[in-house]
Amino acid sequence: MLAQSFIFFGAGFETSATNLSFCLYELALQQDIQQKLRDEIFEVLNRHNGEMTYEAIMDMKYMDQVLDESLRKHPPIPFINRKCGKEYTIPGTDLIIEKGTSVMISAYGLQMDPDYFPNPEKFDPERFSKENKQKIVPFTFLPFGDGPRVCIGQRFAILQNKIGLCLVLKNFRILPHETTPKKIRINPRAVTTVSIDKILLRSEAL
Ligand code: HEM
Repeated sequence: MLAQSFIFFGAGFETSATNLSFCLYELALQQDIQQKLRDEIFEVLNRHNGEMTYEAIMDMKYMDQVLDESLRKHPPIPFINRKCGKEYTIPGTDLIIEKGTSVMISAYGLQMDPDYFPNPEKFDPERFSKENKQKIVPFTFLPFGDGPRVCIGQRFAILQNKIGLCLVLKNFRILPHETTPKKIRINPRAVTTVSIDKILLRSEAL
């Protein structure tokens, strides 16, 4: 029970908080994207009688794009762990991964690879528009992992982060602070994605 509780705190709270924090950081730097998202929030809430129901949250499609782009650029868990189940030759090479080998797959590396995501430093939610999403090479976007051990909390995480973002953006405009860095330096020693610099943002009531 202790281990399960620990995992739910670590895998559940830390990851979700990281996703929302980096998302607000990007939105503070790009006011046009923030306003587009706020427009969607008000438009959808209007259609749902001002109520933040499950259906209303599900209707916020641009918000999915914004959160996905944040997960791409700043995956809270930057790599996936696996143990090789049977000997495998990497296609096109003579490299063999022996059975029993521990493998680390860099989600961060794939998601910041310009071959898969051109101009990867650019925060661009259009990468995840309905049309563009289909063009993403399978298994290059892995913020929740994949396969039988994919994140068990994925749907819950997306729902709660959409509710969080909706509550913040409908009440506040998020702005950079004078100390907000233009580029984030990730702590290379951390297991999760953590910034070396303190990231302060300002909020202005609407
Ligand atoms: C944005 C938020 C989240 C992100 C980015 C995230 C990411 C991940 C990743 C990358 C894995 C490993 C998947 C793999 O190896 O293929 C994982 C596993 C897991 N996550 Fe999440 N997670 C999030 C939220 C949550 C939440 C809210 C919960 C619980 C309520 C949760 C519970 C778990 C558990 C229990 C596992 C282990 C699953 C297993 O090994 O079978 N996660 N998560």
